[in-house]
Amino acid sequence: MKFFVDTAEIDEIKELNDLGMVDGVTTNPSLIAKSGRDILEVTKEICDIVSGPVSAEVVSLTSDDMIAEGRKLAKIADNIAVKVPLTWDGLKACKVLSDEGNMVNVTLCFSANQALIAAKAGATFISPFIGRLDDINMDGMELIADIREIYDNYDFKTEILAASIRTVNHITESARIGADVITAPPGVIKKLADHPLTDKGLDGFMKDVEKAGIKIL
Ligand code: E4P
Repeated sequence: MKFFVDTAEIDEIKELNDLGMVDGVTTNPSLIAKSGRDILEVTKEICDIVSGPVSAEVVSLTSDDMIAEGRKLAKIADNIAVKVPLTWDGLKACKVLSDEGNMVNVTLCFSANQALIAAKAGATFISPFIGRLDDINMDGMELIADIREIYDNYDFKTEILAASIRTVNHITESARIGADVITAPPGVIKKLADHPLTDKGLDGFMKDVEKAGIKIL
């Protein structure tokens, strides 16, 4: 399973990239706004660090404007995935941009039928939002499982990019179901290493190291 990091913060991307945890990056207008940076400038900087797909989202609502913005974003680097919303205008932009050879990430997916039409429009990635479904008492993981089944039934090549991940359990469940990619905030990815028994075991080992005066260097 590929790990994308869901942030526009350069230091956080660098830190996880150095650990081999970054197969790609996703951004959205809210994350760009939070960074306080110019979208073209910060996206270029991210593309210089990460070799995998870097999603950059359009900010218009009509297909013509999305196509124009997508073409401009795609010029930033070869690894740009143009992110478009799951509307008919977004899907039209997806079809045009993917036919032109660009990677396209269709975002804000909340139903299996939306995922089905995104695949038919040539999406490289579909982004179902798990956390936002959980927020309204629906089951985000069930959506990932439904999309996996449908895509496998018809051998769609669109990759399932499980998004809006809030907990490490979302990552475990996405991996069990067979999502191709997860995108998560750096804080959630960092929590994957945590276990109280690891801390307790290490503490015991360190006490014995001190007691016995064990040295390697
Ligand atoms: C994914 O591409 C989105 O940027 C992101 O996962 C949204 O997450 P949120 O629902 O926590 O804002």
